[in-house]
Amino acid sequence: MTRASNDPAAHASEDFRRAFSRIEPELELVEQHMRDQFGSASELIPLIGDHVLAAGGKRIRPALVLLAAELCGYTGPRRIHIGAAIEFMHTASLLHDDVVDLSELRRGRPSANALWGNRRAVLAGDFFYARASSIITDDGNPDILRSFVNAIRSMSEGELLQLQRSFDPEVSESHYFAVIERKSAVLLSTSCETGAILADVTRAERQKLSEFGHELGVAFQLCDDALDYSAREAELGKRPYADLREGKVTLPLLLTLKRSTPAEQGSIVALLKAAQVLADADPGHAEGEPEALDLAPVIALVERYRGVEDTLRRAQKHCDRAEALIKPFSEGLAKQGLLAALRYSVSRNR
Ligand code: IPE
Ligand code: IPE
Ligand code: MG
Ligand code: MG
Repeated sequence: MTRASNDPAAHASEDFRRAFSRIEPELELVEQHMRDQFGSASELIPLIGDHVLAAGGKRIRPALVLLAAELCGYTGPRRIHIGAAIEFMHTASLLHDDVVDLSELRRGRPSANALWGNRRAVLAGDFFYARASSIITDDGNPDILRSFVNAIRSMSEGELLQLQRSFDPEVSESHYFAVIERKSAVLLSTSCETGAILADVTRAERQKLSEFGHELGVAFQLCDDALDYSAREAELGKRPYADLREGKVTLPLLLTLKRSTPAEQGSIVALLKAAQVLADADPGHAEGEPEALDLAPVIALVERYRGVEDTLRRAQKHCDRAEALIKPFSEGLAKQGLLAALRYSVSRNR
């Protein structure tokens, strides 16, 4: 689709594509390395693996590994292996996340759980986590291993923390940030940090890149939560308003709750309650089923109270922090690539 030239999302993704086209050959190698690891006693693994890989995905995490390593002076083949391990971890987390969230659409296609059922999707996720682990073990760097293990732990904690407070209108902003830092930002931080570790830089430089990835990751998830309320399904490749249906009180809704009148708050609380009743009555209730909830009044409130715009404003603040963190690093194509990835993280439309 051609976008209007004054559309910031068009500029951002063009920027991103240009920055990424330079590393396209390496990203191809990452993908090939992943495909090379699909061999399994179960014929379902290559089937599910192909399904997920062929659907695309932005590949932002391996791109960050490649660019962070290059920025720090390493351009050798270990970047490809670590990039593949990171994308395997991401793939595994998506397979599990779609089961947890009862999501039926991923990357514009039916999710693995929709096609093969929850049980197979969870087990395939485990397989891909194991594939990531064997790549890291073969690489043999204990600092990279530590960063990976920390990411796996954090991601599961983030998803659990989120689940524990689903449907809860009293959830705080600090709880929300605790969730998104763990479930999303950590893996983007690990991507940048492992790139720096590959280059054997100083602790201080490594820390800076890790924080850069963290800030980018927070911005990335804030944008994801904004897109859930603002994007169209065709572009997003996921069902919009899924967070509201699932009772995830994300920042657009949190800001709306804070700014609403008591009566309006009452209607949001009532919708969350109705969503919970539905989920409790039918735990397998999927997002693709006919709409049993009237989301429109709450969506209108999110619009009225600028929930999406102000979430994106917050995301921009994290971007600014990230940009400041990599200022001291040498200028060049790798830095330009990281800055393009950063801009893209908050102005993307999918
Ligand atoms: C989806 O990640 C999960 C989040 C952290 C929001 P991406 O938006 O990077 O998903 P793909 O890989 O491009 O499909
Ligand atoms: C993403 O959370 C975090 C993951 C670890 C996958 P979401 O539930 O918001 O991601 P999407 O919207 O399903 O991609
Ligand atoms: Mg989800
Ligand atoms: Mg989401």
